[in-house]
Amino acid sequence: MIKKILVIHGPNLNLLGEREPGVYGNTGIDVLNQNIIDRAKEQGLKCEIFQSNHEGAIIDKLHSARLNFDGVIINAGAYTHYSYAIRDAISAIKIPCIEVHISNVFARDAFRSESVIAPVCKGSISGFGFGSYYLAVQALAEL
Ligand code: DQA
Repeated sequence: MIKKILVIHGPNLNLLGEREPGVYGNTGIDVLNQNIIDRAKEQGLKCEIFQSNHEGAIIDKLHSARLNFDGVIINAGAYTHYSYAIRDAISAIKIPCIEVHISNVFARDAFRSESVIAPVCKGSISGFGFGSYYLAVQALAEL
């Protein structure tokens, strides 16, 4: 059976390439998404990608994922640091979820060092640029 994975990009990630290029790079989200799809294919996975700037929309997507997907990769953006609602949604669905960050969240502002979603995720990958997503694809393929 082919595994299906869902990638969720949270708030402000639609502006990749324009937003703080010194932190997030010069490449846009479309290139990132194509690379994720290619990596998933190489690993024999089917992949859907979703981006939203809205907490409720991310929660709705997580709920629907429980019926249709085998794993989730989530970059919850700043919600990572304070959204108990997203944390509860991840813990409510029983499929494995991997937290990713483009930047090294531990090397930046103090508030970014806390992730309220990390304890309910299978694991976390931070600081490898877009590579954080590709490593997460590999991790889900190997689970
Ligand atoms: C981020 C890190 C977060 O602290 C920040 O709010 C983001 C992006 C990252 O990918 O490095 O929006 O999740």
